Amino acid sequence: MTRDTRAFYSTVMLAPIAGVTDRAARTIAREMGCPLAFSELISATGIAMRNRKTLAMLDICRNEHPLVIQIFGKNPLQMEEAAKLITDIGPDGIDLNLGCPAKNVVNHGSGIALTRDLALLAEIIRKVRGATSLPFSVKMRAGWNAEELTFLEVARIAQEEGVDGIILHARTRAMGFSGEAFRPWIGELKSAVNVPVVGNGDVKDGLSAARMIAETGCDGVMVGRGSYGNPWIFREIRHYLAGQESLPPVGLAERIEVLVRHIRLVVEEKGEAKGIHEMRKHVGWYLKGYPTVKEMRRVVNHLEKMDEVIIALQNWARDFPPDLTPIHAETEAVSPESHGIEDRESIEKVSDFQQVQF
Ligand SMILES: Cc1cc2nc3c(=O)[nH]c(=O)nc-3n(C[C@H](O)[C@H](O)[C@H](O)COP(=O)(O)O)c2cc1C
Repeated sequence: MTRDTRAFYSTVMLAPIAGVTDRAARTIAREMGCPLAFSELISATGIAMRNRKTLAMLDICRNEHPLVIQIFGKNPLQMEEAAKLITDIGPDGIDLNLGCPAKNVVNHGSGIALTRDLALLAEIIRKVRGATSLPFSVKMRAGWNAEELTFLEVARIAQEEGVDGIILHARTRAMGFSGEAFRPWIGELKSAVNVPVVGNGDVKDGLSAARMIAETGCDGVMVGRGSYGNPWIFREIRHYLAGQESLPPVGLAERIEVLVRHIRLVVEEKGEAKGIHEMRKHVGWYLKGYPTVKEMRRVVNHLEKMDEVIIALQNWARDFPPDLTPIHAETEAVSPESHGIEDRESIEKVSDFQQVQF
């Protein structure tokens, strides 16, 4: 391999988040300083069997850079075929999902279930490796539960079979998305392998990214939920890592401007009906912590036309100074409790939609 894959993974990256990090979200993140983005998980079976919806999802990734396309599946030949087709599309990397805990993925033996069948896992990684010369990573959790921590064994196999990078979300399947990511696991992984290691879990600002790197020695950092309504997090982290200082919070006028652009991109990608529906959660995230957001969202959630949503947002924002920064950390509409439910539903929805014969 002639590429400098260590440099490739030694950066701040946008995590794959089913139902959230679509092309529009990735574009906005990139415009705000994100150096590398991952696609939502895409079914290798769907790709190999030329499933129309799955191919459409893949097609959206064309001419988008820098992008890593993530696949999930359990059939080595289909994974190989999918890796070949993806390579033809020309992204910057391929990632294998070894961490998804969603029922409809795990029950078919994909996602984190693959880490319980190490012989099959080795075969899959070998096939994908043989099918592409693109940078190839695996993204995993620490294990099934606290009694079954498999990340070191999985990483050893992945390295032996030739992956270029390993991303560890420092939680087990049993932890779901609750509690705090356990960073020492990332440090252990970093000591155990030679390939670049990317730390993931609860990075939400410059300070937490710096802490992740300092405590674990990881090469890169991946940001998931910290990017919700906050595409500025990437420039914040890069700024913080360069000088140990945070950037000032983003004011309301800039938030509205970027949110409006995000809405336009989603509608362009998915059409008005679906796009406007999907943007409702983003509106809550972008404007979290502002006064009267709850009332405004109640209005916006009943609007179906893009122009009406944009006008409603702009009119609402006129009541406040343009440089107003968020006042409360959380609003009722996007409380941590509602988060977990949304998270699970959105993974199930995206993977369901791709479900084909396994
Ligand atoms: C709604 C939701 C969907 C996700 N979808 C994916 C996915 O498609 N592929 C994947 O590898 N991880 C997925 N994840 C896991 C994230 O990529 C990330 O590992 C996890 O959220 C921890 O990082 P964070 O604390 O920065 O959010 C998803 C997480 C959430 C909350």
